[in-house]
Amino acid sequence: MPSDHHTELPAGKMPELRIMPMPADANMHGDVFGGWIMAQVDIAGSLPAARRANGRVATVAVNSFLFKHPVFVGDVLTFYVDIIKVGKTSITVSVEVYAERNRLQAEIVKVTEAILTYVATDEKRKPRLLPALDVASSSN
Ligand SMILES: CC(C)(COP(=O)(O)OP(=O)(O)OC[C@H]1O[C@@H](n2cnc3c(N)ncnc32)[C@H](O)[C@@H]1OP(=O)(O)O)[C@@H](O)C(=O)NCCC(=O)NCCS
Repeated sequence: MPSDHHTELPAGKMPELRIMPMPADANMHGDVFGGWIMAQVDIAGSLPAARRANGRVATVAVNSFLFKHPVFVGDVLTFYVDIIKVGKTSITVSVEVYAERNRLQAEIVKVTEAILTYVATDEKRKPRLLPALDVASSSN
C-alpha cells in the first residue's frame, strides 16, 4: 500500500480547490473539525459534477469518507477530484485531500479520501437527465 506521506503534490493533476483552515475551523488543540473538511470536500466534488451536468447538482450520497490523518490550522489543503461513475442523472466522484505542512521540509500528507454522488437537478430540484457528451470537444 503506498505511503500517505509525500514530498510533492501529485504530478500532472489539476486541483479543484486549495484552502487553509483557520482557528475558527478547529478545536482548542488546533485539530480541524471533520465537518469543516466534509464541507470543503462536498464543494470540491460538486465542481466537476456540475461541469458534467452543465448545471445545478445536489449531493445525494456520501458513499464513503475516510479521515486518514489529522488536519491542523495553517495546513494548505489541496483537493483533487475524479469522476468515477456516470449514470442517467447521477455522477459519482472520488475526492483526495492533501495537506502541505512544515512547508520548509516539504511535508505533504494525504489526509482524506471520500466518494460522493451528485444528481443533476432541474429548476424544481427534481432529477434531470445528464446531457450527452460532445465527443469531439471532450477528447481535447
Ligand atoms: C437528490 C434528489 C433530487 C434525488 O431525487 P430522488 O427522487 O431521490 O432520485 P432518484 O431515486 O430518481 O435517483 C436519482 C439518481 O441518484 C442515484 N441515487 C439515489 N440514491 C443514491 C444513493 N444512496 N447512493 C448513490 N446514488 C444514489 C440513483 O441511482 C439515480 O442515479 P441514476 O439516475 O444515474 O441512475 C433528492 O434525493 C434530494 O433533493 N435530496 C436532497 C439533496 C440535498 O439537499 N443535498 C444536500 C444535503 S447534504
